[in-house]
Amino acid sequence: MKTLLLAGGLGTRLRPLTENLPKPMAPIANRPWLEHLITYLRDQGINQFVIASHHCSDVIKNYFGDGKRFGVDIEYSDETHQMGTAGAIKNAERFLKERFLVVNADIVHLPNLIPLLEFHEQSGGIATIALTEVDDPSSYGVVQLDDSSRILRFVEKPRREEAPSNLINAGLYILEPEVMRYIPAGREVSIERETFPTLIQKSKSVYGKISSGYWFDMGTPERYRKIHWDVLENRNPLPTRGNQVQPGVWLGKDTKIGSGVRFIPPVLIGDNVEVGDQSVIGPFAVIGDHCHIGSKVHFSNSILWDQSSISDNIRVNNSIMAYKTFLNESKVYDNLILNQYERVMQA
Ligand code: GTP
Repeated sequence: MKTLLLAGGLGTRLRPLTENLPKPMAPIANRPWLEHLITYLRDQGINQFVIASHHCSDVIKNYFGDGKRFGVDIEYSDETHQMGTAGAIKNAERFLKERFLVVNADIVHLPNLIPLLEFHEQSGGIATIALTEVDDPSSYGVVQLDDSSRILRFVEKPRREEAPSNLINAGLYILEPEVMRYIPAGREVSIERETFPTLIQKSKSVYGKISSGYWFDMGTPERYRKIHWDVLENRNPLPTRGNQVQPGVWLGKDTKIGSGVRFIPPVLIGDNVEVGDQSVIGPFAVIGDHCHIGSKVHFSNSILWDQSSISDNIRVNNSIMAYKTFLNESKVYDNLILNQYERVMQA
């Protein structure tokens, strides 16, 4: 079954990290989320992908190519402008002649596909929307189901007390090709706001099925950080690469740790990293591959992407720093979301 990965959003809420990077390429535990997603779906039996992208699409193409390196086939559906979620599906129509899966590539979702596919087969609907349960649905599209799990209506961002349920669209759909008939070509179309409501209005059967498995939307810096802490504290089953040298502290290959360095778990450090003498790393620290951390650095509640450098005596807290960040002014960096992207054309 082909899977269309929607990776063409602008990721505005995660700027400046997404100025030169599609949001699905943001690393989670030192690997692009899109790599985790493709290999996870591959291990569930999916090996044909179409990636629909626009913003910084070359970053994705250069990383994955034809997919062979990851044991899958990847084709690309290029977009000349923002098309919206359904517009992107329509634009990829030539690749999608049979039943297909659509996945929002910026959601950290590790679904168990078999029950979803079986449900879709049995229900015989035109679309099955994977659902996830959240405590507070007020910032999402909430669904109301009938007893047979058919979707009766969507309510966009309801007030908490007015939400018809706690079930929200998880950003994963199983669709029949017939859906294409209901998506107008040549303009921006949202599947959530336009296509699904149209299908329901026309009495086409759209079903909802709860997806088990970790689900978290990485769309904002706070949420992006929270996903990392979930990985480090084992609430998310993504792999933490490296050797666990003490409980909750993982160090990658060829990493050199100076004398008197203190790790306060949880800490994840990538490959080929140097940490200078007497630095304090953690709690809640993720440091990417090929980074240099000076001596007497304090680094906590923060994420540093690959190939970055932090000079001696610097304190970093509550921050996210993109590829090839260089901090050399000896001071405290707090609540910083930094992307020195003018230095880096490509991650
Ligand atoms: P924000 O700008 O921060 O809201 O992020 P976003 O637009 O990237 O994400 P949004 O939640 O609106 O989009 C949901 C999913 O659809 C994400 O995986 C996006 O990459 C994807 N998406 C949104 N618009 C498009 C589009 O025009 N084309 C494609 N191919 N994907 C899109």
